[in-house]
Amino acid sequence: MTKIAASILSADFADLAADCQRLLNQGTDLLHFDVMDGHFVPNISFGAPVLECLHKALPEVFYDVHLMISDPVKYAPDFAKAGANLITFHLEAVPDAVPETIAAIRAAGCQVGISIKPGTPAEAVYPYLDDLDLVLVMSVEPGFGGQKFMPSALEKLRWLREERARRSAHFLLEVDGGVDDATAPLCVEAGADILVAGSAVFGAADPAAAVRRLAAL
Ligand code: DX5
Ligand code: ZN
Repeated sequence: MTKIAASILSADFADLAADCQRLLNQGTDLLHFDVMDGHFVPNISFGAPVLECLHKALPEVFYDVHLMISDPVKYAPDFAKAGANLITFHLEAVPDAVPETIAAIRAAGCQVGISIKPGTPAEAVYPYLDDLDLVLVMSVEPGFGGQKFMPSALEKLRWLREERARRSAHFLLEVDGGVDDATAPLCVEAGADILVAGSAVFGAADPAAAVRRLAAL
Protein backbone atom coordinates (compact mmCIF):
# COMPACT_ATOMS: atom_id res chain seq x y z
CA MET A 1 0.00 0.00 0.00
CA THR A 2 1.56 3.33 -1.08
CA LYS A 3 1.90 5.88 1.71
CA ILE A 4 1.39 9.63 1.38
CA ALA A 5 3.85 12.06 2.97
CA ALA A 6 2.52 15.62 2.96
CA SER A 7 5.35 18.12 2.49
CA ILE A 8 4.63 20.93 4.94
CA LEU A 9 6.73 23.35 2.86
CA SER A 10 3.45 24.13 1.06
CA ALA A 11 1.36 24.37 4.25
CA ASP A 12 -0.05 27.54 5.81
CA PHE A 13 2.70 28.30 8.36
CA ALA A 14 0.35 30.70 10.15
CA ASP A 15 -1.96 27.77 10.90
CA LEU A 16 0.44 24.86 10.58
CA ALA A 17 -0.90 22.27 13.04
CA ALA A 18 -4.51 22.72 11.89
CA ASP A 19 -3.47 22.64 8.21
CA CYS A 20 -1.60 19.38 8.81
CA GLN A 21 -4.40 17.88 10.91
CA ARG A 22 -6.88 18.44 8.08
CA LEU A 23 -4.72 16.35 5.74
CA LEU A 24 -3.96 13.72 8.38
CA ASN A 25 -7.71 13.27 8.85
CA GLN A 26 -8.03 12.47 5.12
CA GLY A 27 -5.42 9.75 4.89
CA THR A 28 -2.01 11.40 4.93
CA ASP A 29 0.32 8.85 6.52
CA LEU A 30 3.31 11.00 7.48
CA LEU A 31 4.49 14.61 7.50
CA HIS A 32 7.47 15.44 5.30
CA PHE A 33 9.57 18.18 6.84
CA ASP A 34 11.71 20.01 4.28
CA VAL A 35 14.69 21.59 6.02
CA MET A 36 16.65 24.01 3.81
CA ASP A 37 19.77 25.91 4.92
CA GLY A 38 20.17 28.46 2.09
CA HIS A 39 23.57 26.89 1.37
CA PHE A 40 23.10 23.34 0.11
CA VAL A 41 19.95 24.65 -1.62
CA PRO A 42 19.19 28.30 -2.55
CA ASN A 43 16.29 28.62 -0.10
CA ILE A 44 15.73 28.74 3.66
CA SER A 45 12.72 26.96 5.20
CA PHE A 46 12.55 26.12 8.92
CA GLY A 47 14.52 24.41 11.70
CA ALA A 48 14.15 22.11 14.69
CA PRO A 49 12.10 24.58 16.82
CA VAL A 50 9.25 24.36 14.30
CA LEU A 51 9.39 20.57 14.35
CA GLU A 52 9.37 20.65 18.16
CA CYS A 53 6.20 22.76 18.21
CA LEU A 54 4.46 20.65 15.60
CA HIS A 55 5.46 17.43 17.36
CA LYS A 56 4.06 18.80 20.65
CA ALA A 57 0.76 19.59 18.88
CA LEU A 58 0.67 16.36 16.84
CA PRO A 59 2.72 13.81 18.83
CA GLU A 60 1.33 10.71 17.09
CA VAL A 61 2.50 11.69 13.61
CA PHE A 62 5.48 10.05 11.84
CA TYR A 63 7.93 12.87 11.04
CA ASP A 64 9.88 12.28 7.83
CA VAL A 65 12.63 14.93 7.98
CA HIS A 66 14.35 15.77 4.69
CA LEU A 67 17.63 17.59 5.40
CA MET A 68 18.64 19.72 2.41
CA ILE A 69 21.57 21.08 4.36
CA SER A 70 25.37 21.01 4.06
CA ASP A 71 26.08 19.68 7.56
CA PRO A 72 23.61 16.92 8.45
CA VAL A 73 25.87 15.40 11.14
CA LYS A 74 25.89 18.66 13.08
CA TYR A 75 22.11 19.23 13.03
CA ALA A 76 20.60 15.71 12.97
CA PRO A 77 20.62 15.42 16.81
CA ASP A 78 18.54 18.63 17.09
CA PHE A 79 15.89 17.22 14.78
CA ALA A 80 15.93 13.87 16.55
CA LYS A 81 15.39 15.63 19.89
CA ALA A 82 12.61 17.75 18.33
CA GLY A 83 10.67 14.62 17.32
CA ALA A 84 12.01 13.30 13.99
CA ASN A 85 11.28 9.61 13.32
CA LEU A 86 13.30 9.34 10.13
CA ILE A 87 16.06 11.67 8.95
CA THR A 88 17.13 11.76 5.31
CA PHE A 89 20.31 13.53 4.23
CA HIS A 90 21.65 14.27 0.75
CA LEU A 91 24.46 12.11 -0.60
CA GLU A 92 25.75 15.19 -2.47
CA ALA A 93 26.17 17.12 0.81
CA VAL A 94 28.57 14.60 2.40
CA PRO A 95 29.99 12.41 -0.40
CA ASP A 96 33.07 11.50 1.71
CA ALA A 97 31.27 11.04 5.03
CA VAL A 98 28.26 8.85 4.26
CA PRO A 99 28.88 6.02 6.79
CA GLU A 100 29.62 8.56 9.52
CA THR A 101 26.42 10.45 8.74
CA ILE A 102 24.34 7.25 8.78
CA ALA A 103 25.92 6.35 12.14
CA ALA A 104 25.26 9.82 13.59
CA ILE A 105 21.57 9.68 12.65
CA ARG A 106 21.20 6.17 14.05
CA ALA A 107 23.01 7.24 17.24
CA ALA A 108 20.43 10.03 17.59
CA GLY A 109 17.74 7.31 17.60
CA CYS A 110 16.24 7.87 14.15
CA GLN A 111 15.71 5.79 11.05
CA VAL A 112 18.01 6.83 8.18
CA GLY A 113 17.46 7.77 4.55
CA ILE A 114 19.67 9.05 1.75
CA SER A 115 18.32 11.40 -0.90
CA ILE A 116 19.75 11.84 -4.39
CA LYS A 117 19.24 14.81 -6.68
CA PRO A 118 18.04 14.37 -10.27
CA GLY A 119 21.62 14.57 -11.56
CA THR A 120 22.94 11.83 -9.26
CA PRO A 121 22.74 8.26 -10.65
CA ALA A 122 20.92 5.58 -8.63
CA GLU A 123 24.15 3.55 -8.46
CA ALA A 124 25.71 6.26 -6.26
CA VAL A 125 23.73 4.97 -3.25
CA TYR A 126 24.33 1.26 -3.91
CA PRO A 127 27.25 1.02 -1.46
CA TYR A 128 24.95 2.12 1.40
CA LEU A 129 21.67 0.38 0.61
CA ASP A 130 22.07 -2.37 3.21
CA ASP A 131 22.34 0.25 5.95
CA LEU A 132 19.33 2.37 4.98
CA ASP A 133 15.66 2.48 5.92
CA LEU A 134 14.79 4.70 2.96
CA VAL A 135 16.06 6.08 -0.35
CA LEU A 136 14.52 9.39 -1.41
CA VAL A 137 14.59 9.92 -5.18
CA MET A 138 14.22 13.62 -6.02
CA SER A 139 12.00 14.28 -9.04
CA VAL A 140 12.80 18.01 -8.90
CA GLU A 141 15.95 19.99 -8.07
CA PRO A 142 15.74 20.34 -4.26
CA GLY A 143 14.94 23.78 -2.86
CA PHE A 144 11.38 24.67 -3.80
CA GLY A 145 7.86 23.28 -3.86
CA GLY A 146 5.59 23.56 -6.89
CA GLN A 147 8.14 22.51 -9.52
CA LYS A 148 7.54 20.28 -12.57
CA PHE A 149 8.05 16.52 -12.15
CA MET A 150 11.21 15.16 -13.84
CA PRO A 151 10.41 11.74 -15.43
CA SER A 152 14.05 10.65 -15.09
CA ALA A 153 13.14 9.78 -11.48
CA LEU A 154 11.02 6.86 -12.70
CA GLU A 155 13.97 4.94 -14.13
CA LYS A 156 15.86 5.43 -10.86
CA LEU A 157 12.94 4.05 -8.88
CA ARG A 158 12.88 0.97 -11.12
CA TRP A 159 16.68 0.46 -10.78
CA LEU A 160 16.51 0.77 -7.01
CA ARG A 161 13.50 -1.56 -6.74
CA GLU A 162 15.40 -4.15 -8.78
CA GLU A 163 18.55 -3.74 -6.72
CA ARG A 164 16.54 -4.05 -3.48
CA ALA A 165 15.06 -7.35 -4.66
CA ARG A 166 18.44 -8.59 -5.90
CA ARG A 167 20.03 -8.13 -2.45
CA SER A 168 16.82 -8.66 -0.37
CA ALA A 169 17.33 -5.29 1.27
CA HIS A 170 14.58 -3.63 3.34
CA PHE A 171 14.81 0.10 2.49
CA LEU A 172 11.66 1.92 1.35
CA LEU A 173 11.54 3.99 -1.84
CA GLU A 174 10.23 7.55 -1.59
CA VAL A 175 9.78 10.05 -4.45
CA ASP A 176 9.67 13.79 -3.92
CA GLY A 177 8.83 16.74 -6.14
CA GLY A 178 6.03 17.46 -8.60
CA VAL A 179 4.00 14.46 -7.45
CA ASP A 180 0.33 14.98 -8.34
CA ASP A 181 -2.69 13.15 -9.81
CA ALA A 182 -0.91 12.70 -13.14
CA THR A 183 2.56 11.70 -11.95
CA ALA A 184 1.68 9.72 -8.80
CA PRO A 185 0.43 6.61 -10.68
CA LEU A 186 3.67 6.55 -12.71
CA CYS A 187 5.70 6.66 -9.48
CA VAL A 188 3.69 3.86 -7.90
CA GLU A 189 4.10 1.71 -11.02
CA ALA A 190 7.87 2.41 -10.95
CA GLY A 191 8.11 1.20 -7.35
CA ALA A 192 7.58 4.15 -4.99
CA ASP A 193 6.44 3.07 -1.52
CA ILE A 194 5.97 6.65 -0.29
CA LEU A 195 4.80 9.65 -2.34
CA VAL A 196 5.77 13.10 -1.10
CA ALA A 197 3.23 15.72 -2.13
CA GLY A 198 3.26 19.38 -1.18
CA SER A 199 1.55 21.78 -3.58
CA ALA A 200 -0.66 19.00 -4.99
CA VAL A 201 -2.34 18.61 -1.59
CA PHE A 202 -1.83 21.77 0.47
CA GLY A 203 -2.33 23.89 -2.67
CA ALA A 204 -5.36 22.00 -3.96
CA ALA A 205 -8.79 23.64 -4.19
CA ASP A 206 -10.01 20.69 -2.11
CA PRO A 207 -6.97 19.36 -0.16
CA ALA A 208 -8.98 16.58 1.46
CA ALA A 209 -10.12 15.23 -1.91
CA ALA A 210 -6.57 15.57 -3.27
CA VAL A 211 -5.18 13.44 -0.43
CA ARG A 212 -7.93 10.86 -0.83
CA ARG A 213 -7.16 10.50 -4.55
CA LEU A 214 -3.46 9.94 -3.89
CA ALA A 215 -4.13 7.65 -0.93
CA ALA A 216 -6.40 5.50 -3.11
CA LEU A 217 -3.54 4.62 -5.51
C1 DX5 B 1 11.78 20.22 -2.60
C2 DX5 B 1 11.23 19.43 -1.43
C3 DX5 B 1 9.94 18.75 -1.76
C4 DX5 B 1 8.84 19.74 -2.14
C5 DX5 B 1 7.65 18.99 -2.68
O1 DX5 B 1 13.11 20.58 -2.34
O2 DX5 B 1 12.14 18.44 -1.02
O3 DX5 B 1 9.52 17.96 -0.63
O4 DX5 B 1 8.46 20.49 -1.03
O5 DX5 B 1 6.74 19.96 -3.09
P1 DX5 B 1 5.83 19.71 -4.37
O6 DX5 B 1 5.05 18.46 -4.06
O7 DX5 B 1 4.97 20.94 -4.45
O8 DX5 B 1 6.74 19.54 -5.54
ZN1 ZN C 1 11.39 16.99 0.44
